[in-house]
Amino acid sequence: MTTHLPTADAQDPESSARTGRLREALLAAAFTADGLLDLLGAPAYAALARSETVPALRATRGGGPLETLVRLFLLQCAVPEAQAAAVLPVADCLADGWLVRDGAELRATVDVRPYGGPEGQDWWIVSDLGCAVGGAGGIRGAAAADRAELVLGVGGASTTLAGITARRPVAKALDLGTGSGIQALHAAQHATRVTATDLNPRALRIAALTLALSGAAPADLREGSLFEPVGEETYDLIVSNPPFVISPGARLTYRDGGMGGDDLCRTLVQQAAAHLNDGGYCQLLANWQHVAGEEWQDRVRSWVPRGCDAWIVQREVQDVAQYAELWLRDGGDHRAGPEEYAARYDAWLEEFEARKTKAVGFGWITLRKSGAADPAVTIEEWPHPVEQPLGQAVLSHFDRQDYLRATDDAALLAGRFRLVDEVVQEQVGLPGAEDPEHVVLRQNRGMRRATKVDTVGAGFAGVCDGTLTAGRILDAIAQLVGEDPVLLRDRTPASIRALVEQGFLEPVG
Ligand SMILES: C[S@@+](CC[C@H](N)C(=O)[O-])C[C@H]1O[C@@H](n2cnc3c(N)ncnc32)[C@H](O)[C@@H]1O
Repeated sequence: MTTHLPTADAQDPESSARTGRLREALLAAAFTADGLLDLLGAPAYAALARSETVPALRATRGGGPLETLVRLFLLQCAVPEAQAAAVLPVADCLADGWLVRDGAELRATVDVRPYGGPEGQDWWIVSDLGCAVGGAGGIRGAAAADRAELVLGVGGASTTLAGITARRPVAKALDLGTGSGIQALHAAQHATRVTATDLNPRALRIAALTLALSGAAPADLREGSLFEPVGEETYDLIVSNPPFVISPGARLTYRDGGMGGDDLCRTLVQQAAAHLNDGGYCQLLANWQHVAGEEWQDRVRSWVPRGCDAWIVQREVQDVAQYAELWLRDGGDHRAGPEEYAARYDAWLEEFEARKTKAVGFGWITLRKSGAADPAVTIEEWPHPVEQPLGQAVLSHFDRQDYLRATDDAALLAGRFRLVDEVVQEQVGLPGAEDPEHVVLRQNRGMRRATKVDTVGAGFAGVCDGTLTAGRILDAIAQLVGEDPVLLRDRTPASIRALVEQGFLEPVG
């Protein structure tokens, strides 16, 4: 792997003009997310994401402008200079180091992957060669010495974090562990100033390329570990897709935090509060150990810093063997030969045994600095598909927590509620039975939750269109079912709270 990286100096008008011409050329050739899918077709596109390049190579044999760009920037092929010159400002690309000569041909020095922004923007994510798609495991024959410093492109974790991030206009955002710069690129759309940090200086240079090529404002780039590069500065939004992998060593900077077990994630969470402005959000992806004799919920709850509300969602759990295999494959260790592979696998299991770890949880952690004396901490397991992007649902979750915290039962019954859009009722029971065994309300939006309700709950939710108070609705239901209205008013607030908390009902006014 070459250590050579292109330059794109946003402060230098000539450099900016050259980067602008490259961007125009990429757009003109439809080297965009949509263009790529159109050219390759879904199977070759998906194969590329699995680091399988043969289908894409077959789909780009024509030598047209888009095919040339895919070969150069995604498939690490050399192409004849005249072919490259037909689509790219070759002199600019050579001057800035995006391309280098290889005999009579040209090749790219970095991967450049088209990436569609949330508003349909055409962006490009820069990463190390062979890392645009499929992770480092896809790199064959890369210089082993350089593997530790590899900067990867967009992975599933990157897009997950980008999707769950609360996007509201803010003054200052921090992307901790920026890598290719994908989170900083998103943040640049709604934050006046973005700071991006990384332990790996190569990542900072690559993030700068991603931002420049995508036409975003440059970020304040700082090298160093965790919060160390930002001193005591505070932010309205902190995002991090950190090197959360729990591993027996720190072989790959992009994924192995180098701290024991889940200490890196714990440290990040614990230190975040000191770097958040009031009302600010910190959102990160994390892994946590499931340790024998301990509830995982207690473990992650103990991480939440004082003065912060938290919403922690466990999305997946893997046993230690599955986990070790996943990351051995990701690192390309399955190609190291059977003995070496076995030794590395064993080291992983040894590490877990020493830490009494039975499994590893993967999930999302969102903190909001509310300063509340009684912080709302929600810790839940939700492995089911959700709607992405989810950022708005995250903001609504915390708004609802504020409402519930400030509303006692009397105020709740005096309040009005609206059933959110796209909730359906499902009735489950034996075929032909008159009454359902149970009734389920299911959301089609946001977290796509489902919850069991009784007939009162279902009836109540059905009537909630924001016109009648909760108390009036309950009185009417009591009359219908012949129940004492006082008792019904007494026992129902807990269920209403649950429906509000889970986002089925929203307070009106
Ligand atoms: C999983 S990658 C995430 C990259 C990118 N933000 C994304 O979402 O795709 C983690 C990044 O954290 C960086 N990193 C590793 N250890 C770090 C540390 N102690 N402090 C800050 N960044 C670190 C790695 O170099 C890498 O770029």
